[in-house]
Amino acid sequence: MQVEHRNIYGPLWKSKFGPLVVINVASAELIEQMLRQEGRHPVRTDMPHWRTYRELRSYSYGPLTELGDKWQRIRSILNPRMLKPQHVSSYSSIINPVVTDFIHKVAWIRQTKGDGIIVPDVTGELYKFAFEGICSVLFETRMGCLNENIPEETQKFIFSVGEMFRLSHIVMLFPKYTWSYLPFWKHFVAAWDHLFKVAHKLVEQKITDIQEKVKLGEPVQGAYLTHLLMSEQMSLHEILGSITELLLAGVDTTSNTISWALYHMAQEPHIQEKLNEEVNSVCPGDKVPDSSDFAKMPWLKAIVKETLRMYPVVPGNARITVDDEIVVGDYIFPKNTLFHLCHYAVSYDEQHFPQPQSFLPERWFRGQEKFKQHPFGSVPFGYGVRACLGKRVAELEMYLMLSRFIKCYEVRPDPSGTKVEPLTRTLLAPATPINLQFVERKLESGQCLCWRRLHWGKPVGPVLLVQGWPRHVQRVCRALHHIPNMRAAVYERW
Ligand code: HEM
Repeated sequence: MQVEHRNIYGPLWKSKFGPLVVINVASAELIEQMLRQEGRHPVRTDMPHWRTYRELRSYSYGPLTELGDKWQRIRSILNPRMLKPQHVSSYSSIINPVVTDFIHKVAWIRQTKGDGIIVPDVTGELYKFAFEGICSVLFETRMGCLNENIPEETQKFIFSVGEMFRLSHIVMLFPKYTWSYLPFWKHFVAAWDHLFKVAHKLVEQKITDIQEKVKLGEPVQGAYLTHLLMSEQMSLHEILGSITELLLAGVDTTSNTISWALYHMAQEPHIQEKLNEEVNSVCPGDKVPDSSDFAKMPWLKAIVKETLRMYPVVPGNARITVDDEIVVGDYIFPKNTLFHLCHYAVSYDEQHFPQPQSFLPERWFRGQEKFKQHPFGSVPFGYGVRACLGKRVAELEMYLMLSRFIKCYEVRPDPSGTKVEPLTRTLLAPATPINLQFVERKLESGQCLCWRRLHWGKPVGPVLLVQGWPRHVQRVCRALHHIPNMRAAVYERW
């Protein structure tokens, strides 16, 4: 729709969304001009529906919903452990076991549901991966999303996130005074209630763990939540408000992006092979990548950038001018104007991205004169002080997953040839399920990438899992895939 409207009205037009009047901006130059005047405390939108829920239940606002000085304070507390490279790199050791479990899960799905090769609805599976990954980082807790049977409460949480986003769009079509009379407002409130309930339980659990450790005189170590609780910069109330919003923002975003990257690599085997070669040259044999390896993987980074250009998870961002009137193009806009930044349309602007419909990661390589870009042509994580808080963690998750996955499997398209289009449900998502074939890479890996053999406690090599290898080895490895604790002293996950 953004692309169609830009073709009809040009790069700047006014429209209405429910009760809201919106100024749409659809060129890289005008988006740059707008964002450079966004002020000290940028406001994305005032999110009245999300804020009203919090007021109703007396919960604190988090980084997504808070405004002004209070927002800046929250960000200054949340930023360091989310964005500073030295902290983020330490999350590799938390996310890598989750990637290992996902690789196991894929093996299991192929065997049990996919005729030994297909994984139906890859996005759904990656959603569980992303949820497990972000919970591990934030709460330092495993939720069991990658088990064969997912705990009921976790399943309900996943459902509630989907409902909340779906209803958000609908609620905003109506004026605020009508909300309490609308049936879907009640569902919207119920969805939020469940999200806060789960987050509350996890925070309480962490507090109990910390208290027990302190009582026993043990050192208290942990990643994100432990740090927030121990630093005492935020009240418990504020931590709950912030951590719930971080959790929400960190699931669909990464899972949709990884799905599109795999979908495109399945269509374009030469890109996939380049990535596989790159990963194997930086991390040969059984070396598992960590954050320090990615600086040497330009293809991997370019694939993620190109995926986010073609499928920006936030296809249209927003800003409300709160400080002053501003000039955009040939117009002066008063204070409190709501701007809709049409990033999706700009990502497909031929002027900045030649052959915009083609998946060309090489356009992101430095010094590519023919692909010279505008700095605001693709800004998938947003801009300035209000930009994405989870950018570094999201990149780490996506890099770890794609690099390790491509080492294990060759990805092939759905044999039915189904083309998947994107659809906006607040966030950009695949309109229909993405089904893919995963073929084990035999020659290069010839190994099980999740388990290795130990001799007197020392790793002596990977477990082999290919046709043609000795039967007993295959048997042990398969058994280990299904009963993870079996002979744990002789085999370990890696
Ligand atoms: C592919 C992954 C992701 C993409 C493309 C993405 C994109 C974005 C975008 C475009 C914004 C708005 C920025 C702006 O207004 O300038 C945003 C905000 C935000 N994101 Fe992400 N995001 C991703 C993953 C994550 C993850 C994993 C987390 C949590 C760990 C997260 C947490 C947040 C938060 C809390 C905000 C609000 C920041 C604020 O208003 O101060 N995001 N994200």
